[in-house]
Amino acid sequence: MNKKKIGTFPIVVIVLVAVYALAKWGIPAFSRQVTSLPFPLPVPGTLMFFYMTLTVIALFLMVTFSEDGLSDFLRPIKKLLAGGYGKVLRAIVLLAIPLVAGWQAYDMTVPRALVPASLRIQHPSSNFPVAMEALNNPFEKPGEDQITEFIEQAKANEVSFIQQVQADIDAWAEEIDPDHVLEFFAVEPIKKLLAEIDAGEVSQETAKAALHEKYLFEGRALYAMNCRPCHGDSVAGDGPMADGFKLRPINFTDNGTIETIVEGYTFWRVTNGGPGLPTEATPWDSAMPEWKLSLTEDERWKIILAEYNLAQKTPRIPEGH
Ligand code: HEC
Repeated sequence: MNKKKIGTFPIVVIVLVAVYALAKWGIPAFSRQVTSLPFPLPVPGTLMFFYMTLTVIALFLMVTFSEDGLSDFLRPIKKLLAGGYGKVLRAIVLLAIPLVAGWQAYDMTVPRALVPASLRIQHPSSNFPVAMEALNNPFEKPGEDQITEFIEQAKANEVSFIQQVQADIDAWAEEIDPDHVLEFFAVEPIKKLLAEIDAGEVSQETAKAALHEKYLFEGRALYAMNCRPCHGDSVAGDGPMADGFKLRPINFTDNGTIETIVEGYTFWRVTNGGPGLPTEATPWDSAMPEWKLSLTEDERWKIILAEYNLAQKTPRIPEGH
């Protein structure tokens, strides 16, 4: 029996379709097996173009390698043009080629109405609990009790600090052997307090200013331990990790950031971080950690005190005040 040989033309078509299918669906399906990810990894468009171009070149070499190969390839085309497959099919093919080319050209040049890029809302508030708006930083305006207690501690030289800095202060005291632990701070309000203690007459005002310095110191230390990697030493959103995020850590010295929001809102943002943001805060997820998981309420407030102070900003005053 005469074995029927497959012509060169169908082989070319089959190879083109097979290579395309392999790159388009085969490789992504295989990638899923290899990576065991829940989604396939598509072949990038440029690589796809590369594969197809190489395939076409290889097929061209194969077809034009010999006179016989070329005439074998051209035979069905010539037969079609001569009407060997019927006039109807010839008309369809001859019409389809310019139509497809025309459609492609049209599709590439037609102006499109694009969906406007959705802009991220910097201070989304749809899920901000209104009750938090009136919150005040308890360390900004310490009450009389707090101040009196601080005066007692200062007089008895028994001022204690948050445990994160206590070890450093103890080590310093061991080395220097100061008369008073508050000598650790070489700032005016604290020097004034120590002088008043020596003189035996301490005013509430002086003690309040000194206590503020202590809180600021603790807040700065907590800031350096927790926030500096992203928000930076300069609080300008330029910490060593900042470049790694598409949505950059906020620059607190910028006029459009923490200055435009009330303290209660800042507290809420720090407390809930990126995971606490509503959908209008997308696109791009915020890398800001959920600080309620690792910092106490007092620690968060102290950091916020230091954050505004370092940025030389004041929070917005809540409406109705
Ligand atoms: C892993 C990096 C990272 C760390 C660490 C980090 N942040 Fe952020 N923070 C971000 C990013 C990114 C944004 C901007 C996106 C957003 O609004 O959530 C941001 C935004 C903020 C905002 C919102 C400011 C505004 O005007 O809306 C505040 C407040 C803030 N951070 C405070 C802090 C504090 C306080 C700490 C430390 C306790 C901290 N951040 C630690 C990444 C970080």
